[in-house]
Parts: sequence; C-alpha cells; structure tokens
Amino acid sequence: MRASHLEDFYSFLRFPSISTDDDYSERVSECAHWLVEKLTGIGLKAELVPTPGHPIVWARNQHREGRRTVLIYGHYDVQPPDPLELWDSPPFDPVLKDGYVFARGATDNKGQILSHILGVQETMEQRNELPVNLHFVIEGEEEIGSGNLGNFLHQHRSELGCDVVVVSDTGMIAPHTPTLSYGLRGVAALELKVTGAKIDLHSGIFGGAVANPATALAQLLATLHDRNGHIAIAGFYDDVAPLEDWEREAWKKLPIDVDAEVLKETGAPALFGEAGFSTLERIWARPTAEINGVGGGYQGQGTKTVIPSHAIAKLTFRLVPNQKADEIIALAKKHLEKNLPAGVTLAMTSGHNGPWYLTDPYNRFGQAAQRALQKAFNAQVALIREGGSIPIVSDFRNVLGVETLLLGLALPGCRAHSPNENFPLENLDAGIRMNQAVMEELATLR
Ligand code: BES
Ligand code: ZN
Repeated sequence: MRASHLEDFYSFLRFPSISTDDDYSERVSECAHWLVEKLTGIGLKAELVPTPGHPIVWARNQHREGRRTVLIYGHYDVQPPDPLELWDSPPFDPVLKDGYVFARGATDNKGQILSHILGVQETMEQRNELPVNLHFVIEGEEEIGSGNLGNFLHQHRSELGCDVVVVSDTGMIAPHTPTLSYGLRGVAALELKVTGAKIDLHSGIFGGAVANPATALAQLLATLHDRNGHIAIAGFYDDVAPLEDWEREAWKKLPIDVDAEVLKETGAPALFGEAGFSTLERIWARPTAEINGVGGGYQGQGTKTVIPSHAIAKLTFRLVPNQKADEIIALAKKHLEKNLPAGVTLAMTSGHNGPWYLTDPYNRFGQAAQRALQKAFNAQVALIREGGSIPIVSDFRNVLGVETLLLGLALPGCRAHSPNENFPLENLDAGIRMNQAVMEELATLR
C-alpha cells in the first residue's frame, strides 16, 4: 500500500460528512470539494453539482467514440457516529490497528469508493488513459434516501448514457471471498406520533382517568407481528415473490455458517425471525417491519411521575420483489389506524423510500464482473442477494436503462452504521485491483 493512498484515505475519513444532521452540512460540502480536487488531480474533469440538499460529485475522463461507457457510483456521506462512548477511538480521527482502519465511513462507503478512485489513478499513471469511457457519480445523500439523485439522472440522462453501472457498497460473505450481489431489498419509512393529553400530566392526579400514549403506542406496535415473526398487516405478503429454486440451492452451498456468524457478530442471545425460513432467506429474500426508534415521556435520571402527552416511533419496512413501497405504506397505515387503542390520536408521516433490485448475475455484464472478481481475488466468486438497500440502483435501470454490478468490499465484521466501523487495507488494495480488472473485462466484452 502506497503511503499516499493511506493519506488519501485518512483525509477522506476526517470529514464528518453526516448527511442527516443539518449542523454538518458545511462539512458534508467540504468533503465533496475534497473529492472534486482528488478526481481532478488524477486527470479527470470533475465538478460539483449543487442540489437542494448535498452536492453531487461528477467526474469524467475524455470520452472516445466506440468504447464502452461505465458509470461508477458511490456515496461520500456517512451515518451519524452515535453512540460516541462506544467507540474505541474518535470516529473522525482514523487509526490503523492490525491492518484495519477504524473510522465512521471506513467501509460505508469511503473505503470502497476510494478504492475505485485509486484504481483509476493507478491505471492513468500506468497508461495515461483508461480502457473505457468513465463517469464517477458520488453523492452525499445515500444514507438519507438519495432524494435528489433521481432528478440529476433525469436532467443529465443523455450525458450519463452508459452501458453498465458499477457499485461497491455491499458485502463480501467472508474475507478473501469475492462476492457479486444480484439483489437488494427496498426500504420504506413511516413515523408515528400517538397523542393523548395536551401536556405531560401528573400521573397521580390524572393516572387512570386518561389513556397513556406510551402504553397505547406499545400496544399498537405489538400488533405489527404475530408470535411466529410473521408481519400481521393484512395483504403485506401478497406481492412477495417466492425464492427461486436455484437460489435456495446455491445459498445452501455458500461457504459460510451464517447462523453462527450472526450470533457472533451481533451478540444477540438467540436467532429470531419469521418461522419457516432460513437466516439467509430471512435477510435476503423476505420483507421485514422494524421499529428503529421509540420515544416519549421522561428519559432522564431517576423517576418522574408523569403521563407523557405523546409518544413516537420510527418504523422502516424492508421490501422484496415484487412489493411496492407506496402500497405497503398504505396497508401499514390502514392496519395502524384500525388497531389504535382507545383514548389517543395517531398521526403518521411517511418518509423516504427506495425500491428493491434484482438482476441476473449470469447476463454478459454479470459474467464479466465474475471474471474480474475471480481475477482480482484469485478465488471462487459467491453470488448473493443483500438485505440492505441502495435506493438509486433501481433508477439506474429505470432512467438510464442499464443494469448495476454490485461488487461489494464490506466484510461481515465491518460494523457499518455501528461504533468501531472499520475497513481492512487489504480490501483497499483488493478494490484497486478489482477496479482495474472490471474496467478491463468490461472494455473487452463482446
Ligand atoms: N451500504 C449500505 C447498503 C447495504 C448495506 C447494502 C448492507 C448491502 C448490505 C448503504 O449505505 C445503506 O446503508 N443504505 C441504507 C439506505 C436507506 C437509508 C435508504 C440502508 O440500507 O439502510
Ligand atoms: Zn450505509
């Protein structure tokens, strides 16, 4: 690993580019500027495209007639680092320990997108040109649903014309095991606010006489699932496509013990999920309803005898083929209204959503990607789906008319979105080789 590559990685990681928090928008934009400079420095024409939210970084090489065009997508925004006290070192002060760099965004997505940038840099240094026409599109709003990127794709549809998109923002099933993901789950968000009294009340004076919104919310949330882990919203599973036989068979043969790994990685006392499905099926091919946060009432030290005036919950649903976010949100709203306990009111706000994605890992681009992975890692390629979501990928298909190759570099222990996120330098190196191999395979593909 060149010292300058490590320096670039550290510089990139030092920006607290937290897209969801308005207090950080200046820092998000500084990170985007750094990328423009970096991409310009390696010989690309790079620009910052403003949006109503965070800017998009767009860079190109000199395009030539008759070559294949590849769009590499990634994101420079990161999730908030909270809870800070659980980090062994400060989240925006990268440190190297036993070959792993620890920092927020190390894997998701700075390390992964940087390995493509450095791959391009090395190719330009070696040959003074690339084998393909290239676009880099690196956005600052992936972690908040990519709300402005669709517009950018529409507006620049013809200039962004390409043959295929390459994304490294997914996982490897194990270290040294190159992985091509051919599916992502979708996501749809919904916020609930249950309100009772107009102010917090003395629970001695009023307790027993009016409904407690926190109790009502707990009762309401408990109606989302049955005891077997099935989602109890009427019609929720109507459009779910069953897993293909070839997938079920292939997943059984993957060289991992996923149950043991999930237990080890999460520290959960037991596995739990929808009855009748394996862990991989539950994560990759079944929808879920998750409560991401609940709140209301007194949360400080000691006790405070109040009946909170309101309680809130933040929900997201993970969606699979062929569920539609709008329909699922409508069904959920209906279910929640119907099951609302007496004595309170309910307000619901739907948030961002992104569709699922499923492609054929055996089409000609998929095969080229498999050859590139095999070459870069010198190991057999695993074909998987993912539980996570990358909202813009379905727009690459719908707006640009192209498929996306998901060549992930995230390891099972990467701690994306969690404290002590990390990325091994080994994968930064592997990503550089992978970038060069995939550009070459795509350039020479007939
Ligand atoms: N890199 C992840 C997506 C991912 C995670 C893919 C795990 C495969 C496995 C991405 O940065 C992400 O976190 N996406 C969000 C999207 C959401 C905020 C709309 C997600 O999945 O929660
Ligand atoms: Zn993420």
